[in-house]
Amino acid sequence: MTTTTPRPRTFPRFPAGFRFGAATAAYQIEGAHAEDGRGPSIWDTYCRTPGKVAEGATGDVACDHYHRWPEDIGLLRDLGVDSYRFSIAWPRVRPLGDGPLNPAGLDFYERLVDALLEAGVSPSATLYHWDLPQALEDRGGWRVRETAERFAEYAGTVAERLGDRVERWMTLNEPYCSAFLGYGLGRHAPGVREGRGALAAAHHLLVGHGLAVRALRAAGAREIGITLNPDLLLPATDSPADIAAVRRARTVHNDVWLDPLFAGRYPLHERETWETLAEDPPYRLDGDLELIGAPLDFVGINYYRPVTVRDAPRNEPDPAARTAVDIGAAESWRTDVRHTTMGWPVVPGALTDLLTGLSRDYPGLPPIFITENGSSEADEVSADGAVHDEERVAYLHDHLHTLADTIAAGVDVRGYFVWSLLDNFEWAFGYDRRFGVVRVDYDTLERTPKDSYHWYRKLIAEHRAAH
Ligand code: NOJ
Repeated sequence: MTTTTPRPRTFPRFPAGFRFGAATAAYQIEGAHAEDGRGPSIWDTYCRTPGKVAEGATGDVACDHYHRWPEDIGLLRDLGVDSYRFSIAWPRVRPLGDGPLNPAGLDFYERLVDALLEAGVSPSATLYHWDLPQALEDRGGWRVRETAERFAEYAGTVAERLGDRVERWMTLNEPYCSAFLGYGLGRHAPGVREGRGALAAAHHLLVGHGLAVRALRAAGAREIGITLNPDLLLPATDSPADIAAVRRARTVHNDVWLDPLFAGRYPLHERETWETLAEDPPYRLDGDLELIGAPLDFVGINYYRPVTVRDAPRNEPDPAARTAVDIGAAESWRTDVRHTTMGWPVVPGALTDLLTGLSRDYPGLPPIFITENGSSEADEVSADGAVHDEERVAYLHDHLHTLADTIAAGVDVRGYFVWSLLDNFEWAFGYDRRFGVVRVDYDTLERTPKDSYHWYRKLIAEHRAAH
């Protein structure tokens, strides 16, 4: 199906100083899983568990970025981006999660950061993009507070080494996925289905964020934030039951994170969402809200698609046995628009609704960066060797257009990172979901900039010329 959105000829202007970037994450691109002292992460283990990842794919080689980073930096330089968002693999830096540092791990990121700066691209580093050292998972993972403490130590170590050169730090990426897909639905590593475990994990991720912010500030880091994936959740019908289901879904997807971070409270509707939640869950300690809510310099928002929610029976009749994601709400996708190969509906206007809603509901929200946005498409290499990814171009065009209008309407968005620079390992989906503006041939590891790369490059150049 081709796009049905009419595309205006002129593009609204982004404000002067607006930052354009591209994003990736360590496990999805690096490969070299057992090289130079890297320890195993929960994703190495998960990928090796039969039946978990499509076609038994792993990140063992991925895009081989660990060896091909100079070429990838060349692609970023030619693209003309202001900034590159990458993630640092905790198991490269501290292979066992705590204990001895692995100097080769930090050296790798230092070379990367220095080469980026030399290419005129400023480094934006994510400290946790889901690759928890397996040794920490063996001691309870995010279910236990100790992991939050170890995370802050690791964050401080990295910032002491790179804090003078990294422009922007994101503590966590999409902690919703770590807690609820990892410990609730079991669709991400470590792949378990627990009720209390997922809720404790959500809290400890936030505590880890708060402790890491302190460690980063102490090490002199510059801009510090977190990347979240709050959803625009819309009721399937306007029935009171569907509207209540949206409230419960919003608690899990959004309020668990946004309320403590930006409103100084635990989620308003949490007891309606989890009927068995204790009045005072034992994992919450005095002082945690202050720790979690310490001021940030920015918030990263990842946006791909809106979600439709309807009321549904809770699957497990015994409340004590329910997982934290069994909240009596079923999620689905709108059917009246084009879908990407993730099955996601393409609705650019939902980005505006999401961002205006967030700024309205959270007056304490710091400036926003869109830290991810992009689409997975059925790309093909044409006879001329090029990849004419028209649908991705349309997706990016329409979302960036909407974003510029949202900024003009008064929402404070300072930058945009396309997901992704490269086709890469799409977690449980393996390698056939391609999000890159650069194609990766997984047999030869050859990189080919797609039409979307050239389109984005032109947009950035025109923006520069206009200011
Ligand atoms: C969010 C995640 O941060 C990233 O790792 C993933 O590949 C994209 N979304 C696309 O699903």
